Amino acid sequence: NSNTLSFKDRVVVITGSGGGLGRVYAIEYAKRGAKVVVNDLGGSLKGEGHNSRAADIVVSEIREKYKGTAVANYDSVTDNAESIIRTAISNFGRIDIVVNNAGILRDSSFAKMSEASFASVIDVHLNGAYKLCKAAWPYMRKQKFGRIVNTCSPAGLYGNFGQANYSAAKLGLVGFAETLAKEGYRYNIRVNCIVPLARSRMTERIIPPHILKQLAPEKIAPMVLYLTHEDTDATNVIIELAAGFYSQVRWERSSGQIFNPSPKSYTSEAILNKWDSIVDYRDKPFNKTQHPVQLSDYNYLIQKARELPPNDQGSTSIESL
Ligand code: NAI
Repeated sequence: NSNTLSFKDRVVVITGSGGGLGRVYAIEYAKRGAKVVVNDLGGSLKGEGHNSRAADIVVSEIREKYKGTAVANYDSVTDNAESIIRTAISNFGRIDIVVNNAGILRDSSFAKMSEASFASVIDVHLNGAYKLCKAAWPYMRKQKFGRIVNTCSPAGLYGNFGQANYSAAKLGLVGFAETLAKEGYRYNIRVNCIVPLARSRMTERIIPPHILKQLAPEKIAPMVLYLTHEDTDATNVIIELAAGFYSQVRWERSSGQIFNPSPKSYTSEAILNKWDSIVDYRDKPFNKTQHPVQLSDYNYLIQKARELPPNDQGSTSIESL
């Protein structure tokens, strides 16, 4: 079938792929011809301990059951990311695709959260992805090809009780991806985020069984493969997915309120008066709700604000011009 998305000869690093979602990705890439580095330090959900078994089992499964190509790497993304990329280069000669998937949880209410637990979660998710990308980036730029997927979470986008550390790390990965997408664009490096919900040791004790049943990780993997395929041009997108539902999440800026360019109109009282308009997402005659994707999307608003005549009477909205 000419529509088959092949990964023949592509080299993929998937962090934390000794279990959970990453394992399913690794198998799917290998089934489609990719050469896979299965990285996993094999620790507990909290990130404690170290065991080469997790990665070894997935590599054996790929080799024996699927006759695919894979090697194991047991380094932590937090302190040996370069060696993870080196495993790809020394075994397969290149690095095409990085899936930042390794993760841990250290949940507790913010009131009880220690600095160590905050730092360790940031370290694995966010600093780990930074280190991996930093090591892979020069290769991707040089070969003018690269695909990166960062794993975010609903907790990162929307917040979740007990996950201040995890939320901060996960939304950090979104901002990180957004900038890499811009800097990598002309080198044909595409960078996207997924926001999954799936059955794994991370969720099996939190989500009720009847919902868990719908959350097969096999429903997440196809999107990761799609986003990292050479024919996929999508970049800078956030894909939210679970249970077979796939969608994009984007930023939205309200149509808002422009105040006249006079110091007297920029008062807290003026904001109090116009609060409803500031947070209004309905289009206004001269000012529309926007979905910004870059800094310069502000320019037209700044321009509009400049066009307003000075007026010391307080705020007027642009539509009263
Ligand atoms: P999981 O716990 O089965 O997989 C995470 C893997 O990362 C584990 O195998 C673990 O050993 C490995 N790992 C942890 N620290 C590491 C380190 N420093 N270096 C290398 N490997 C390390 O959990 P799951 O659910 O498969 O999670 C995969 C990713 O998806 C994580 O980033 C998680 O935060 C994210 N995620 C999962 C959701 C879900 O519903 N399962 C929801 C939203 C995000």
